[in-house]
Amino acid sequence: MCGIVGYIGTQPAASEILLAGLQKLEYRGYDSAGIATISEGELHCIRAKGKLHNLQEKVASWNRPASLGIGHTRWATHGKPEEYNAHPHRDTSERLAVVQNGIIENYRELREQLRHHGHTFRSDTDTEVIPHLIADGLPRIQAEGLQAHHPSPLLEAVRQAVCQLQGAFAIAVISADFPDELIVARQQAPLVLGFGQGEFFCASDTPALIPYTRAILPLDNGEIARLTPTGVEVFSFEGNRVRKTPRTLNWNPVMVEKQGFKHFMLKEIYEQPGVVRTCLEQYLNGDWQPGMADSPIHLGLPTDFYNNLEQVQIVACGTSWHAGLVGKYLLEQVAGLPTTVNYASEFRYAPTPLRPNTLTIGVTQSGETADTLAALEMEGTRHSEGAPPPRLLGITNRPESSLSRLVPQIIDTHAGIEIGVAATKTFVAQLVAFYLLALDLAYTRQTLTPEQLHTLIEGLRQLPAELELILESQERYVETLAHDFVDTQDFIFLGRGINFPIALEGALKLKEISYIHAEGYPAGEMKHGPIALLDAKVPVVAIAMPGTVFEKVLSNAQEAKARDALLIGVTPMDEQEAAETFDALLPVPHVDELLSPLLTVVPLQLLAYHIAAHRGLDVDQPRNLAKSVTVE
Ligand code: G6P
Repeated sequence: MCGIVGYIGTQPAASEILLAGLQKLEYRGYDSAGIATISEGELHCIRAKGKLHNLQEKVASWNRPASLGIGHTRWATHGKPEEYNAHPHRDTSERLAVVQNGIIENYRELREQLRHHGHTFRSDTDTEVIPHLIADGLPRIQAEGLQAHHPSPLLEAVRQAVCQLQGAFAIAVISADFPDELIVARQQAPLVLGFGQGEFFCASDTPALIPYTRAILPLDNGEIARLTPTGVEVFSFEGNRVRKTPRTLNWNPVMVEKQGFKHFMLKEIYEQPGVVRTCLEQYLNGDWQPGMADSPIHLGLPTDFYNNLEQVQIVACGTSWHAGLVGKYLLEQVAGLPTTVNYASEFRYAPTPLRPNTLTIGVTQSGETADTLAALEMEGTRHSEGAPPPRLLGITNRPESSLSRLVPQIIDTHAGIEIGVAATKTFVAQLVAFYLLALDLAYTRQTLTPEQLHTLIEGLRQLPAELELILESQERYVETLAHDFVDTQDFIFLGRGINFPIALEGALKLKEISYIHAEGYPAGEMKHGPIALLDAKVPVVAIAMPGTVFEKVLSNAQEAKARDALLIGVTPMDEQEAAETFDALLPVPHVDELLSPLLTVVPLQLLAYHIAAHRGLDVDQPRNLAKSVTVE
């Protein structure tokens, strides 16, 4: 939610650097954008409603050379997406500017106090209190003079201001009266510093930094930093100096380019075979055979991690929650561990009563989702007397994110960064992580025989080639099929067992990017409600993979057909009965039912993508959504 970026250095190119950074952060919000720079002792602020190109046009016609500036791309929370609510926000003198990602919960009280002190407000946002609060404290701090514990009045004024803020926020501050300083602070919202040659950067996320540097330093909660053209100093909110060392990011700038694909989403769908391959290579012991002493899987978890484990609870949001549902199926049916899957936003205010020997798993592609992090933080502190300490595990493709600083154990899915707002490759990678975890547990708990384990692992190894086959053989066909649904208003997705979460995911993908109403339902439940929605105008997509519920799903599909619904089947290529049931087929290779979600989701991603593309919609940046949801 919202992206912030900042630059200080010797190049007079702050505007270009800020705009380029915002382009890389636009996935975080695109309701408005703005930059503020300082040149010739003056603060210049340019803002525009809507997507970044509106701001780029304004900046192109009014640019000043500057070597200090901040920028913002907004996902509106407080106040409509209008230019007057766009960041940066300024104090009454218009010499100090602030960008913020997050929500200031006590902004109403602060605004009233500041109004009494003579400050004038011009927006409906929570953020605007911050520049006024800093400006309010500055004269007093300047009058006190410099003291050893506050090396700069601006730093001290920001420090005192952030101590009065409640909520989750990351901010960047500049002032025309302090033209050699960029002050940043973090509390529960991401902020990374970048170290260049005589220039320093800050950003909500690393893609904005990697064109300039790979030396990065993530700030932790409760930290404030002062960036000058000569270096970076980090302090705690209490004013104590914090010693931190930058680390090198193992990334390549090409990873955040479209590389010839029309959209990031399509590129990321095509990356899935490679992502699965990489993840398996990382964690599978290639030479493992039944009878060997060690587990075939090495997740890098402590040796006693599974000891006495009695149950698992998963917390996640959105698509990651769907991955958690597949995880639950695997952990229960393969590893014999009772598992609950919780929306993090619900769990944090109504947690399951404490039970000893519970493993809590947080699943998040961004590693920054506020609700998921808060739920995990709560579980890290909830602890009954005499019980062993809580066991926490994160599953993410962003091992450098806030998640990894919150939980002691991480499974890095190696999917890399995902730019398309609708998650695709990160979902498939989260599934792979759950397969590996469940099989590792099954080995330890001996809930599968070595032969069964071997068969499933061999099945996993075939998946990259099978995914490639789906993409090669189906994309053109799905593109053509999608034409038929450009004007459709409702879709139903049905699945059962391990493919029920895939029905939910197929419906979510379609909703997110095509704005078509879609519902995912357990196929057996259709007769208890959604069947009333069916007629010839409502297509039904059913996932029917041979196994425990194959015949049942086909019967449920027939029930829909009897109500005139057009039936689309995600089913193996060679299934005669299924072929006769469905009006259109999205075929996938024949695989073990247990492994099938890794394949069945792909035609549904393609279907959603092509319907949205045919409708001429902005697939990578759908309306109202953001890739990284750092507010509650
Ligand atoms: C947003 C994204 C979704 C994502 C969800 C959870 O809504 O648009 O694609 O599934 O957040 O995000 P997380 O980063 O925690 O997986």
